[in-house]
Amino acid sequence: MADESGRRFEAEPLKGGEAEGGVSKEKSCAGKLGLSHLTGWRTAAFLLSLFLCLLVVFAFSFILPCPVRPQYMPTWNRTIPTAATYNFLSVEDANEDKVLDVFFMYKDADASRNTCLSEDLSIPCMVLTAVDGTDGKTLWKRPLAAEFYWVECGVKGLGHKGTGCLVAHAGNLTAVDKQSGVIMWQQSQSTMMNVTLPLISVTDLNADGVEDFAILSYYPEAPSFTPIPTELVFFSGKTGDQIGRVDVDMMGVFGHLPFKTASGAPYLLLLNDSGLYAVSLQYLVAQAGLKSALKKEKSWEEKSDSQTGLISLYQSDSLKRVSVVHGSSSPSLLVQTDSSVSLLLTDQLKIAWTTNTSALLSAPTFGQFNRDGILDIMIEEDVGNDTKRVMVLSGDSGDVLWKVNLLFWTPSPRPASVLTLNTYSVFMLWGQSHGNQTMQSSFLLHPRYSQTLLERRNPTQNILSFKATLLERGRHACYLVLSGPDGRQHTELGETEPVILTKRKIKDDVSESGILGVEANEPISEDTEKSVKEGFYRLRFSDAPL
Ligand SMILES: *[C@@H]1O[C@H](CO)[C@@H](O)[C@H](O)[C@H]1NC(C)=O
Ligand SMILES: *[C@@H]1O[C@H](CO)[C@@H](O)[C@H](O)[C@H]1NC(C)=O
Ligand SMILES: *[C@@H]1O[C@H](CO)[C@@H](O)[C@H](O)[C@H]1NC(C)=O
Ligand SMILES: *[C@@H]1O[C@H](CO)[C@@H](O)[C@H](O)[C@H]1NC(C)=O
Ligand SMILES: *[C@@H]1O[C@H](CO)[C@@H](O)[C@H](O)[C@H]1NC(C)=O
Ligand SMILES: *[C@@H]1O[C@H](CO)[C@@H](O)[C@H](O)[C@H]1NC(C)=O
Ligand SMILES: *[C@@H]1O[C@H](CO)[C@@H](O)[C@H](O)[C@H]1NC(C)=O
Repeated sequence: MADESGRRFEAEPLKGGEAEGGVSKEKSCAGKLGLSHLTGWRTAAFLLSLFLCLLVVFAFSFILPCPVRPQYMPTWNRTIPTAATYNFLSVEDANEDKVLDVFFMYKDADASRNTCLSEDLSIPCMVLTAVDGTDGKTLWKRPLAAEFYWVECGVKGLGHKGTGCLVAHAGNLTAVDKQSGVIMWQQSQSTMMNVTLPLISVTDLNADGVEDFAILSYYPEAPSFTPIPTELVFFSGKTGDQIGRVDVDMMGVFGHLPFKTASGAPYLLLLNDSGLYAVSLQYLVAQAGLKSALKKEKSWEEKSDSQTGLISLYQSDSLKRVSVVHGSSSPSLLVQTDSSVSLLLTDQLKIAWTTNTSALLSAPTFGQFNRDGILDIMIEEDVGNDTKRVMVLSGDSGDVLWKVNLLFWTPSPRPASVLTLNTYSVFMLWGQSHGNQTMQSSFLLHPRYSQTLLERRNPTQNILSFKATLLERGRHACYLVLSGPDGRQHTELGETEPVILTKRKIKDDVSESGILGVEANEPISEDTEKSVKEGFYRLRFSDAPL
């Protein structure tokens, strides 16, 4: 109604203008040339264009709906009584409302009884589910036969809209559409159950128009004197059929990750007890008898072994983990050994810096801490006596920029970071600040108030997965905590504990938090606490990729 009257108001000045214009034109044109019929045409044309104008205004205000920004609940939880869950959380937009939704997996005997039986599955079965990011309501549930091996979501080439989840369970590889939860294909693949993630995404190899993927199989726990070949198996994303396989000529592989060089050449990085190696995906695809237009990195290929295609990138007999550091013009690799972390520049294959550490507890977390625009690194090392030291290393020099000691008894999730528009990240970490074993804290670190941490105390829970992320473009910064009995350890479902997935808005934690000095025994004034909390409230989050 308000719109209606507004339109009438808007139209009236135009009407007046038209009348005036009509009069003046009549005088000048008709008077000079005497072509009065021309004036009629002009008026008609003018009225017609006015009509079209109004039609467009009308269409935009009534017929085409305004984009409605989805409303969301700042906090929600999804509780499944007497169930067990897995270390898996994924965020993807399943219902196309532009808010990311949350995927997780659980196993229970009671709540899903009918769901399992409806699909002729024995009880307990496993359920892969997507819940709405705005309110935690279930979008779909996909019951699957137990036992569970691994799952990866966001796999390209599966499903109608291009991505889906791939689940390895009970001897089958099952592709699930992310939008509907419908099974796209299911293939018996018992040899692909014990593999280590991540999957390797490859371009379309079998010319069916969708991306394909590959799985690297090796047995990390196998003693090195029993030579089991490392094998790369290529699958069709559309049907799940095997389309090729190749032996990777490297012994004792215990880890791998896909990597793209600055020029876009895809490589497979492989770790063994001698160090870090790379082999071009193009080489492996060709060895498997498949065709591709994949690129190679010239400067790397000069160092490749002609027999195996392997390129030695870093030598160490105590290599533990390698992570890709994005963010600069060419990606680097963070190489972690028993007693150090080093940054390997991939364009020059040179070590930029090395920092000595104790045994590291978790994979590193990346974020902006100082003002140099280069990603910094948060690591956690075990310093004994139930204490961990959390440190931020400068991505530029490896220098320790910040550190804090925290107690820890329960295995706590690794830290997370969320970028802000002010080009620094806020970090979130877990631990205990005091001797009460029934409590567990989450801490927020603001790099511009780095002498303090905000601490929110929670009852101790068995957290299996934790993620801090933005659920919408540029807004809705939150964290997700999945807790409950571990499905990999509890084969019998006799417990009474629930599986709980909780979403909380990061800023909502600020008011519920206390303040903690990073240096022990440093008293914090109330004014400081107030300004730190205000600093957090002022944050504007960014979803720019790290
Ligand atoms: C879950 O949310 C409900 C309200 O939505 C709340 O009453 C309950 O305490 C929450 N449970 C947990 C474990 O956070
Ligand atoms: C594995 O997949 C095949 C083919 O779809 C199906 O017939 C079989 O029931 C599946 N097995 C299990 C345990 O889900
Ligand atoms: C898979 O791993 C489990 C335990 O790690 C082991 O018992 C089983 O034999 C493995 N299966 C294969 C095919 O290697
Ligand atoms: C690691 O792989 C390289 C390259 O194939 C090989 O030369 C080396 O012997 C392997 N190291 C171990 C400990 O297996
Ligand atoms: C790091 O460790 C190495 C070998 O243990 C040692 O030689 C070096 O001096 C250490 N560097 C620093 C800065 O402590
Ligand atoms: C461990 O911590 C306790 C209490 O903080 C202290 O009394 C003890 O000396 C520490 N032990 C070691 C080996 O540092
Ligand atoms: C630990 O904290 C809980 C909740 O604040 C409290 O009820 C309990 O008494 C505390 N235990 C100890 C040993 O301080």
